[in-house]
Amino acid sequence: MGSIAFAGKTVIVTGASSGIGRAMALDLAKAGAKVGLIARRTQILEELAVEIRAKGGHAHIAGADVADWNEVQAAVAQIESALGQTDVMIANAGVGVPSPLEAQAHVREIGVMIRINTLGVVHSFASVLPGMLERKKGQLVAISSLAAYISFGGEGGYCASKAAVNSYSQSLREQVRNKGIKVTTLCPGFITTPMTAGNHGPMPGVMSPEKASKKMLAAIAGGREVYNFPFITVVLIKFLNLLPGWVLRRIVTDLGDNKVD
Ligand SMILES: NC(=O)c1ccc[n+]([C@@H]2O[C@H](COP(=O)([O-])OP(=O)(O)OC[C@H]3O[C@@H](n4cnc5c(N)ncnc54)[C@H](OP(=O)(O)O)[C@@H]3O)[C@@H](O)[C@H]2O)c1
Repeated sequence: MGSIAFAGKTVIVTGASSGIGRAMALDLAKAGAKVGLIARRTQILEELAVEIRAKGGHAHIAGADVADWNEVQAAVAQIESALGQTDVMIANAGVGVPSPLEAQAHVREIGVMIRINTLGVVHSFASVLPGMLERKKGQLVAISSLAAYISFGGEGGYCASKAAVNSYSQSLREQVRNKGIKVTTLCPGFITTPMTAGNHGPMPGVMSPEKASKKMLAAIAGGREVYNFPFITVVLIKFLNLLPGWVLRRIVTDLGDNKVD
C-alpha cells in the first residue's frame, strides 16, 4: 500500500463500522491519512475512532444513512470542518439481501439495495464533487462487486445495484477526466465479512477484509480506473459468461444461494 499516497490526506470511508470499510479505515489511518468515518451505527464508529487515535492516527465520525442525500451532505460537512477538504471519498457502504418474488417484498428489498448501494454512491460522490471541481483535484472511489458482471437467481436487486454503480462510475470518470478528478471502481469477489456470513457452499478466491483492504488501497493509490479481484473469481466469471445460455442458466440459478457479494 502506498503510505506516501495517503499521508496527510483527508479520506472519507462510508460503511466504516464493519467489514471492508473498517479494515480500510484502519489501514488508511496507519498510512497517515485523516480518516472520516460514516455509517449509521455511530457507537461502533466512535469505538473505531478511539482505536485509531490510540495508535496516533486522526479520525472523525459522522452518522448518516447514505440513502439520504441530506444526511450524507451534513456528515461530509461535519467531517470536512474537522479534518479539512476531502481528497479521497470511498463510497463503500452497502447491503446484500435476497430479492424475493412476493410483490411487496420484491419492491421493498430491491428498492433498499438501489437506494443504499447505488444512490448511496451517488450521494457520497455528489457531496464532495463541488469542492473537488473547484480545487481541480480529488479521487472518487466506488466499492462495487464482481456481482456487477453476472446475475444470480434471487439476487437481482444486489447484482443490478452493483451493475448500476459500474455504469454510473464509468460515465462519471469520462465526465471529470479533464478536470483533475479520478474515478476508481473496485470490484471484489467473496470477502469474509458479516455480509457473507450467511453464505453456504464454496466461495472461490475468498479472502479476509484485511487482505482485501491492502489490495484496494494499492489500487486507489495507483490511480486504477477499474480493479476486479481476486484473479481466480474474475476468470471464473469471464468463463461463466462465455457458456451457452442454457448451461449458464442452470449454474447461476444453483448459485443463487451463494452469490458473489
Ligand atoms: N463481503 C463481500 O464478499 C463483498 C464482495 C464484494 C463487494 N462488497 C461490497 O463491499 C461493501 C462493504 O461490504 P462488507 O462486506 O464490508 O459488508 P458489512 O460488513 O456488512 O458492512 C457494510 C457497511 O455498510 C454500512 N451501511 C449499510 N447500509 C448503510 C446505510 N444505509 N447508510 C450508511 N452505511 C450503511 C454498514 O454500517 P451501518 O450498519 O452501521 O450503517 C457497514 O459499515 C459493500 O458495498 C458490499 O456490497 C462486499
